[in-house]
Amino acid sequence: MEKVVSGIRPTGNLHLGNYFGAVKSFVKMQDDYDCMFFIADWHSLTTHPKPGDIQQSARTILAEYLACGIDPKKAPIYVQSDVRETIELYLYLNMNMYLGELERVTTFKEKARKQPDNVNAGLLTYPTLMAADILQHRAAKVPVGKDQEQNMEMARKCARRFNNIYGVEFFPEPQNFYFSDKAIKIPGLDGSGKMGKSEGNCIYLRDDDKTISKKVMKAVTDEGPKTPNSPRPEVIENLFTFLRIVSDDETYRYFDEKWNDCTLRYGDLKKQIAADLCKVVAPIREQIEYYSANTDLLDRIAREGAEVARASAQATINEVRRIIGFRV
Ligand code: ADP
Ligand code: TRP
Repeated sequence: MEKVVSGIRPTGNLHLGNYFGAVKSFVKMQDDYDCMFFIADWHSLTTHPKPGDIQQSARTILAEYLACGIDPKKAPIYVQSDVRETIELYLYLNMNMYLGELERVTTFKEKARKQPDNVNAGLLTYPTLMAADILQHRAAKVPVGKDQEQNMEMARKCARRFNNIYGVEFFPEPQNFYFSDKAIKIPGLDGSGKMGKSEGNCIYLRDDDKTISKKVMKAVTDEGPKTPNSPRPEVIENLFTFLRIVSDDETYRYFDEKWNDCTLRYGDLKKQIAADLCKVVAPIREQIEYYSANTDLLDRIAREGAEVARASAQATINEVRRIIGFRV
């Protein structure tokens, strides 16, 4: 069975971008692939050097993963920092990555702009650590959202370069994996591009119905359709993106026709989206509450996940040491 791995940094609660862009794919893939999912707590040190209660932050994501439907019997869940083997691979991979190409990564440039007083080496080598996360399991597929495409390109580069330098076919080149035909980007509802924690425009899986409705009803719109069958401006298309994701085809067609014949009322569209979103989020929210109260269970799942991940990483590291020429 093909191996799959993915992770999310524990820098807050999961939002709809994380869910539809990544975690929903995790849940679907666990039946058909050999999956492992993790919580990228080391990666969060690149932006949050003193992260407070990092174990509790990891538990938060773990509870949310479980609530979304990841079954640790099918797909072990672990915390990145529990698998120290990753660092050894990170070191070897870093030896073959060049300053110029790391500096050209868009997310590095963005973060460097956002935190000019802390342009640390971890930020620069973020893609190498991500490559180590993936390559330590020799994973073939990685479910992530569109914003991770460049990091994935770097992971493939790490794999190719290692294979070339040592004349082996050891690492497969990991592919991004999307469930639909193309990468999903969940938009923000404030007219600012994508939904994201740093954008401050998220609908969270923990949000109650009232909060969700309020956030949807506040979505930015325009003065309404004027010409029949005209293309939709971005802020309106964003609403239709939500409709496509959470409502059924018939509902989508209904509002699409209303747009096309210029009878659409944005209030009705928003009410529909809010109601259908609540249907998706409410059962997840209940499960989050259940798992969050169960710290012992969470810690056990993470411990067991780490054992599986460590065994998988150790096997890879031993091979890597052998290939480079170190004692095993
Ligand atoms: P954030 O941007 O809120 O900090 P992360 O960068 O931690 O979120 O993303 C974790 C995962 O969720 C990644 O796989 C990412 O691609 C996905 N993701 C985040 N936001 C979105 C979005 N708006 N649309 C699609 N996928 C997203
Ligand atoms: N960079 C990813 C993000 O910001 C998180 C991540 C770290 C990851 N290591 C990974 C994702 C390995 C997939 C595979 O969302």
